[in-house]
Amino acid sequence: MTVAPPDPGHPETQADAVSGTTDATPSATATARGAWQNRLAGRIAKLADKTWSQTNRLTKERIAHAAENVLPEIERTSAKLKEHARPERMKQDYREILHWLHERVLDPPKEQLFFAQTKDPVALSGLTINAITREYGHDYRPTPCQLFEWTLAAIDYDLSKLTFVDHGAGKGRVMLLASEHPFAAIAGVEFAEELHDAATMNIQQYPRSRMHCRNVECILEDACQVGPLEGEAVHYFFNPFSREVFAEVLNNLVVSYRQRPRRLYLILVDPVATDLVDESGVFARMELPTQERLKVRLFSPYEIAIYRSLA
Ligand SMILES: C[S@@+](CC[C@H](N)C(=O)[O-])C[C@H]1O[C@@H](n2cnc3c(N)ncnc32)[C@H](O)[C@@H]1O
Repeated sequence: MTVAPPDPGHPETQADAVSGTTDATPSATATARGAWQNRLAGRIAKLADKTWSQTNRLTKERIAHAAENVLPEIERTSAKLKEHARPERMKQDYREILHWLHERVLDPPKEQLFFAQTKDPVALSGLTINAITREYGHDYRPTPCQLFEWTLAAIDYDLSKLTFVDHGAGKGRVMLLASEHPFAAIAGVEFAEELHDAATMNIQQYPRSRMHCRNVECILEDACQVGPLEGEAVHYFFNPFSREVFAEVLNNLVVSYRQRPRRLYLILVDPVATDLVDESGVFARMELPTQERLKVRLFSPYEIAIYRSLA
Protein backbone atom coordinates (compact mmCIF):
# COMPACT_ATOMS: atom_id res chain seq x y z
CA MET A 1 0.00 0.00 0.00
CA THR A 2 1.42 3.44 -0.91
CA VAL A 3 1.07 6.43 1.35
CA ALA A 4 0.30 9.77 -0.30
CA PRO A 5 2.70 12.63 0.57
CA PRO A 6 1.18 15.32 2.78
CA ASP A 7 -0.72 17.94 0.82
CA PRO A 8 1.22 21.19 1.39
CA GLY A 9 -2.03 23.16 0.91
CA HIS A 10 -3.92 21.20 3.52
CA PRO A 11 -4.48 23.07 6.82
CA GLU A 12 -3.17 20.17 8.94
CA THR A 13 0.09 19.98 6.93
CA GLN A 14 0.53 23.77 7.07
CA ALA A 15 -0.10 23.79 10.79
CA ASP A 16 2.59 21.09 11.19
CA ALA A 17 4.95 23.20 9.08
CA VAL A 18 4.32 26.20 11.35
CA SER A 19 4.94 24.23 14.53
CA GLY A 20 7.99 22.49 12.92
CA THR A 21 6.74 19.09 14.00
CA THR A 22 4.18 16.61 13.07
CA ASP A 23 3.48 15.99 16.72
CA ALA A 24 2.28 19.54 17.52
CA THR A 25 -0.03 20.22 20.42
CA PRO A 26 -3.74 20.77 19.63
CA SER A 27 -3.54 24.50 20.55
CA ALA A 28 -0.52 25.11 18.27
CA THR A 29 -2.32 23.30 15.50
CA ALA A 30 -5.41 25.47 16.00
CA THR A 31 -3.29 28.65 15.92
CA ALA A 32 -1.55 27.57 12.73
CA ARG A 33 -4.90 26.65 11.16
CA GLY A 34 -6.26 30.07 12.12
CA ALA A 35 -3.27 31.80 10.49
CA TRP A 36 -3.65 29.73 7.38
CA GLN A 37 -7.36 30.48 7.25
CA ASN A 38 -6.63 34.21 7.56
CA ARG A 39 -4.13 34.05 4.70
CA LEU A 40 -6.62 32.11 2.61
CA ALA A 41 -9.37 34.61 3.40
CA GLY A 42 -6.98 37.41 2.43
CA ARG A 43 -6.20 35.71 -0.88
CA ILE A 44 -9.90 35.14 -1.60
CA ALA A 45 -10.63 38.76 -0.77
CA LYS A 46 -7.83 39.93 -3.15
CA LEU A 47 -9.11 37.61 -5.85
CA ALA A 48 -12.65 38.94 -5.35
CA ASP A 49 -11.34 42.51 -5.57
CA LYS A 50 -9.46 41.71 -8.75
CA THR A 51 -12.48 39.96 -10.27
CA TRP A 52 -14.71 42.87 -9.33
CA SER A 53 -12.38 45.47 -10.79
CA GLN A 54 -11.96 43.43 -13.98
CA THR A 55 -15.71 42.93 -14.26
CA ASN A 56 -16.24 46.58 -13.54
CA ARG A 57 -13.71 47.63 -16.21
CA LEU A 58 -15.26 45.26 -18.79
CA THR A 59 -18.76 46.46 -17.99
CA LYS A 60 -17.67 50.07 -18.34
CA GLU A 61 -15.93 49.25 -21.63
CA ARG A 62 -19.04 47.52 -22.88
CA ILE A 63 -21.24 50.43 -21.90
CA ALA A 64 -18.83 52.82 -23.60
CA HIS A 65 -18.84 50.60 -26.71
CA ALA A 66 -22.64 50.52 -26.68
CA ALA A 67 -22.80 54.27 -26.28
CA GLU A 68 -20.41 54.73 -29.19
CA ASN A 69 -21.79 52.16 -31.61
CA VAL A 70 -25.08 50.64 -30.62
CA LEU A 71 -26.93 53.74 -29.47
CA PRO A 72 -26.28 55.70 -32.69
CA GLU A 73 -27.42 52.61 -34.63
CA ILE A 74 -30.62 52.47 -32.57
CA GLU A 75 -31.11 56.19 -33.20
CA ARG A 76 -30.54 55.75 -36.95
CA THR A 77 -32.99 52.83 -37.11
CA SER A 78 -35.67 54.63 -35.17
CA ALA A 79 -35.20 57.72 -37.37
CA LYS A 80 -35.62 55.49 -40.43
CA LEU A 81 -38.76 53.94 -38.96
CA LYS A 82 -40.17 57.38 -38.20
CA GLU A 83 -39.31 58.54 -41.73
CA HIS A 84 -41.10 55.52 -43.27
CA ALA A 85 -44.13 56.12 -41.07
CA ARG A 86 -44.58 59.68 -42.36
CA PRO A 87 -47.73 59.88 -44.50
CA GLU A 88 -45.82 61.48 -47.39
CA ARG A 89 -43.16 58.78 -47.28
CA MET A 90 -45.78 56.01 -47.07
CA LYS A 91 -47.46 57.46 -50.16
CA GLN A 92 -44.13 57.51 -51.99
CA ASP A 93 -43.41 53.89 -51.01
CA TYR A 94 -46.90 52.86 -52.19
CA ARG A 95 -46.37 54.70 -55.48
CA GLU A 96 -43.12 52.78 -56.01
CA ILE A 97 -44.96 49.51 -55.45
CA LEU A 98 -47.57 50.56 -58.02
CA HIS A 99 -44.86 51.42 -60.57
CA TRP A 100 -43.41 47.97 -60.02
CA LEU A 101 -46.86 46.37 -60.42
CA HIS A 102 -47.46 48.10 -63.77
CA GLU A 103 -43.96 47.63 -65.17
CA ARG A 104 -43.49 44.03 -64.13
CA VAL A 105 -46.98 42.57 -64.10
CA LEU A 106 -49.57 44.60 -66.02
CA ASP A 107 -47.56 46.09 -68.91
CA PRO A 108 -45.53 43.12 -70.25
CA PRO A 109 -48.33 41.47 -72.30
CA LYS A 110 -48.71 44.74 -74.28
CA GLU A 111 -45.04 45.67 -74.23
CA GLN A 112 -44.13 42.53 -76.16
CA LEU A 113 -46.20 43.80 -79.10
CA PHE A 114 -43.86 46.75 -79.73
CA PHE A 115 -41.00 46.47 -82.20
CA ALA A 116 -38.94 49.13 -80.39
CA GLN A 117 -39.31 48.72 -76.64
CA THR A 118 -41.33 51.48 -74.97
CA LYS A 119 -40.90 50.62 -71.30
CA ASP A 120 -37.62 52.27 -70.34
CA PRO A 121 -37.38 55.98 -69.52
CA VAL A 122 -35.17 58.12 -71.79
CA ALA A 123 -33.59 61.43 -70.77
CA LEU A 124 -34.11 64.22 -73.29
CA SER A 125 -30.57 65.51 -72.66
CA GLY A 126 -29.07 62.88 -74.99
CA LEU A 127 -31.58 63.28 -77.84
CA THR A 128 -31.76 65.32 -81.04
CA ILE A 129 -34.32 68.06 -80.54
CA ASN A 130 -34.62 71.18 -82.70
CA ALA A 131 -37.23 73.15 -80.82
CA ILE A 132 -37.01 76.29 -78.74
CA THR A 133 -39.16 74.61 -76.09
CA ARG A 134 -36.55 71.89 -75.62
CA GLU A 135 -35.67 72.93 -72.08
CA TYR A 136 -39.34 72.84 -71.06
CA GLY A 137 -39.83 69.26 -72.21
CA HIS A 138 -40.04 66.38 -69.75
CA ASP A 139 -38.09 63.17 -70.16
CA TYR A 140 -39.66 60.21 -71.90
CA ARG A 141 -41.48 57.64 -69.76
CA PRO A 142 -44.45 55.57 -70.87
CA THR A 143 -48.02 55.65 -69.65
CA PRO A 144 -48.86 52.39 -67.81
CA CYS A 145 -50.98 50.44 -70.31
CA GLN A 146 -53.85 49.65 -67.93
CA LEU A 147 -54.02 53.22 -66.72
CA PHE A 148 -54.55 54.36 -70.29
CA GLU A 149 -57.49 51.96 -70.66
CA TRP A 150 -59.03 53.17 -67.38
CA THR A 151 -58.84 56.83 -68.46
CA LEU A 152 -60.42 56.06 -71.82
CA ALA A 153 -63.51 54.72 -70.05
CA ALA A 154 -64.43 58.35 -69.33
CA ILE A 155 -65.19 59.09 -72.99
CA ASP A 156 -68.99 59.06 -73.16
CA TYR A 157 -69.16 59.57 -76.92
CA ASP A 158 -68.93 57.64 -80.15
CA LEU A 159 -65.18 57.08 -80.55
CA SER A 160 -65.47 56.78 -84.31
CA LYS A 161 -66.30 60.50 -84.43
CA LEU A 162 -63.16 61.46 -82.52
CA THR A 163 -59.51 61.90 -83.42
CA PHE A 164 -57.11 60.90 -80.68
CA VAL A 165 -54.05 63.16 -80.25
CA ASP A 166 -51.09 62.35 -78.01
CA HIS A 167 -49.13 65.55 -77.24
CA GLY A 168 -45.57 64.35 -76.63
CA ALA A 169 -46.05 60.90 -78.14
CA GLY A 170 -42.66 59.43 -77.17
CA LYS A 171 -42.20 55.97 -78.66
CA GLY A 172 -45.86 55.69 -79.60
CA ARG A 173 -47.11 53.40 -76.84
CA VAL A 174 -50.29 55.38 -76.17
CA MET A 175 -51.02 55.93 -79.87
CA LEU A 176 -50.93 52.18 -80.45
CA LEU A 177 -53.01 51.39 -77.39
CA ALA A 178 -55.52 53.93 -78.74
CA SER A 179 -55.42 52.18 -82.13
CA GLU A 180 -57.06 49.16 -80.51
CA HIS A 181 -60.19 51.35 -80.14
CA PRO A 182 -62.33 52.52 -83.05
CA PHE A 183 -61.16 56.15 -83.26
CA ALA A 184 -61.54 57.98 -86.58
CA ALA A 185 -57.81 58.78 -86.62
CA ILE A 186 -54.84 58.85 -84.29
CA ALA A 187 -52.08 61.44 -84.26
CA GLY A 188 -49.00 61.95 -82.14
CA VAL A 189 -46.66 64.92 -81.86
CA GLU A 190 -43.10 64.27 -80.69
CA PHE A 191 -40.16 66.69 -80.85
CA ALA A 192 -37.26 64.28 -80.17
CA GLU A 193 -36.04 62.63 -83.39
CA GLU A 194 -34.96 59.33 -81.85
CA LEU A 195 -38.29 58.90 -80.05
CA HIS A 196 -40.25 59.89 -83.15
CA ASP A 197 -38.30 57.28 -85.16
CA ALA A 198 -39.09 54.60 -82.57
CA ALA A 199 -42.77 55.59 -82.67
CA THR A 200 -42.81 55.38 -86.47
CA MET A 201 -41.24 51.93 -86.40
CA ASN A 202 -43.72 50.78 -83.76
CA ILE A 203 -46.65 52.02 -85.85
CA GLN A 204 -45.32 50.16 -88.92
CA GLN A 205 -44.78 46.91 -87.01
CA TYR A 206 -47.80 46.81 -84.69
CA PRO A 207 -50.00 43.73 -85.32
CA ARG A 208 -52.67 44.90 -87.78
CA SER A 209 -55.16 42.40 -86.36
CA ARG A 210 -55.26 44.41 -83.13
CA MET A 211 -55.75 47.80 -84.79
CA HIS A 212 -59.34 48.99 -84.97
CA CYS A 213 -58.00 52.27 -86.27
CA ARG A 214 -55.19 52.05 -88.82
CA ASN A 215 -55.06 55.73 -89.59
CA VAL A 216 -52.16 56.35 -87.19
CA GLU A 217 -49.41 58.92 -87.67
CA CYS A 218 -46.68 60.45 -85.54
CA ILE A 219 -45.26 63.82 -86.60
CA LEU A 220 -41.90 65.24 -85.64
CA GLU A 221 -42.74 68.69 -84.31
CA ASP A 222 -42.90 70.94 -81.30
CA ALA A 223 -46.37 70.62 -79.76
CA CYS A 224 -46.63 74.44 -79.63
CA GLN A 225 -46.16 74.68 -83.38
CA VAL A 226 -48.95 72.31 -84.35
CA GLY A 227 -52.27 74.04 -84.94
CA PRO A 228 -55.26 72.39 -83.23
CA LEU A 229 -57.35 69.95 -85.21
CA GLU A 230 -60.55 71.19 -86.73
CA GLY A 231 -62.70 68.28 -85.66
CA GLU A 232 -63.85 66.63 -82.47
CA ALA A 233 -61.01 65.06 -80.55
CA VAL A 234 -59.48 63.55 -77.44
CA HIS A 235 -56.29 65.39 -76.44
CA TYR A 236 -54.01 63.27 -74.31
CA PHE A 237 -51.19 64.66 -72.17
CA PHE A 238 -48.98 62.51 -69.97
CA ASN A 239 -47.17 65.40 -68.31
CA PRO A 240 -45.12 66.05 -71.48
CA PHE A 241 -43.90 69.56 -70.73
CA SER A 242 -43.82 72.37 -68.23
CA ARG A 243 -46.71 74.63 -67.28
CA GLU A 244 -45.57 77.37 -69.73
CA VAL A 245 -45.74 75.09 -72.78
CA PHE A 246 -48.96 73.46 -71.59
CA ALA A 247 -50.50 76.95 -71.24
CA GLU A 248 -49.66 77.68 -74.88
CA VAL A 249 -51.02 74.40 -76.23
CA LEU A 250 -54.17 74.77 -74.12
CA ASN A 251 -54.61 78.34 -75.34
CA ASN A 252 -54.46 77.14 -78.97
CA LEU A 253 -57.21 74.64 -78.17
CA VAL A 254 -59.37 77.19 -76.39
CA VAL A 255 -59.07 79.73 -79.22
CA SER A 256 -59.93 77.07 -81.78
CA TYR A 257 -62.89 75.89 -79.67
CA ARG A 258 -64.25 79.43 -79.35
CA GLN A 259 -64.17 79.77 -83.12
CA ARG A 260 -66.00 76.49 -83.53
CA PRO A 261 -67.51 74.99 -80.38
CA ARG A 262 -67.40 71.21 -80.57
CA ARG A 263 -66.86 68.10 -78.50
CA LEU A 264 -63.33 67.98 -77.12
CA TYR A 265 -61.91 65.86 -74.35
CA LEU A 266 -58.73 66.37 -72.37
CA ILE A 267 -57.10 63.46 -70.61
CA LEU A 268 -54.36 64.64 -68.28
CA VAL A 269 -52.15 62.06 -66.58
CA ASP A 270 -49.91 63.41 -63.81
CA PRO A 271 -51.15 66.90 -64.71
CA VAL A 272 -49.10 70.04 -64.20
CA ALA A 273 -51.70 72.78 -64.51
CA THR A 274 -55.30 71.76 -63.96
CA ASP A 275 -55.97 75.27 -62.63
CA LEU A 276 -55.43 76.62 -66.17
CA VAL A 277 -58.02 74.20 -67.56
CA ASP A 278 -60.47 74.95 -64.73
CA GLU A 279 -60.16 78.68 -65.44
CA SER A 280 -60.40 78.37 -69.22
CA GLY A 281 -64.19 78.60 -69.12
CA VAL A 282 -64.33 75.99 -71.89
CA PHE A 283 -63.89 72.67 -70.14
CA ALA A 284 -65.75 70.96 -67.30
CA ARG A 285 -64.22 68.25 -65.19
CA MET A 286 -65.53 64.69 -65.66
CA GLU A 287 -65.69 61.72 -63.34
CA LEU A 288 -64.65 58.26 -64.43
CA PRO A 289 -67.25 55.49 -64.21
CA THR A 290 -67.29 53.98 -60.69
CA GLN A 291 -65.23 50.87 -61.47
CA GLU A 292 -62.46 52.75 -63.26
CA ARG A 293 -62.49 55.48 -60.63
CA LEU A 294 -61.85 52.82 -58.00
CA LYS A 295 -59.10 51.20 -60.06
CA VAL A 296 -57.40 54.54 -60.59
CA ARG A 297 -57.69 55.43 -56.92
CA LEU A 298 -56.19 52.11 -55.81
CA PHE A 299 -53.76 51.25 -58.58
CA SER A 300 -52.70 54.37 -60.43
CA PRO A 301 -49.22 55.70 -59.64
CA TYR A 302 -50.35 59.03 -61.13
CA GLU A 303 -53.19 61.43 -60.60
CA ILE A 304 -55.48 61.91 -63.52
CA ALA A 305 -57.84 64.69 -64.57
CA ILE A 306 -60.38 64.40 -67.37
CA TYR A 307 -62.32 67.24 -68.97
CA ARG A 308 -65.00 67.65 -71.60
CA SER A 309 -65.74 70.80 -73.53
CA LEU A 310 -69.00 72.49 -72.67
CA ALA A 311 -70.44 72.03 -76.19
C1 LIG B 1 -43.80 61.59 -70.36
S1 LIG B 1 -43.44 61.28 -72.03
C2 LIG B 1 -44.99 60.65 -72.58
C3 LIG B 1 -44.86 59.64 -73.71
C4 LIG B 1 -46.18 59.08 -74.22
N1 LIG B 1 -47.16 60.10 -74.46
C5 LIG B 1 -46.78 58.10 -73.25
O1 LIG B 1 -47.68 58.48 -72.51
O2 LIG B 1 -46.35 56.94 -73.20
C6 LIG B 1 -43.39 62.95 -72.62
C7 LIG B 1 -42.94 63.08 -74.06
O3 LIG B 1 -43.19 64.42 -74.50
C8 LIG B 1 -42.17 64.80 -75.40
N2 LIG B 1 -42.17 66.27 -75.45
C9 LIG B 1 -41.79 67.13 -74.49
N3 LIG B 1 -41.95 68.41 -74.89
C10 LIG B 1 -42.45 68.37 -76.16
C11 LIG B 1 -42.83 69.35 -77.09
N4 LIG B 1 -42.76 70.67 -76.82
N5 LIG B 1 -43.31 68.95 -78.28
C12 LIG B 1 -43.40 67.63 -78.57
N6 LIG B 1 -43.05 66.64 -77.73
C13 LIG B 1 -42.58 67.00 -76.52
C14 LIG B 1 -40.93 64.18 -74.79
O4 LIG B 1 -39.91 64.03 -75.74
C15 LIG B 1 -41.46 62.84 -74.28
O5 LIG B 1 -41.33 61.86 -75.27
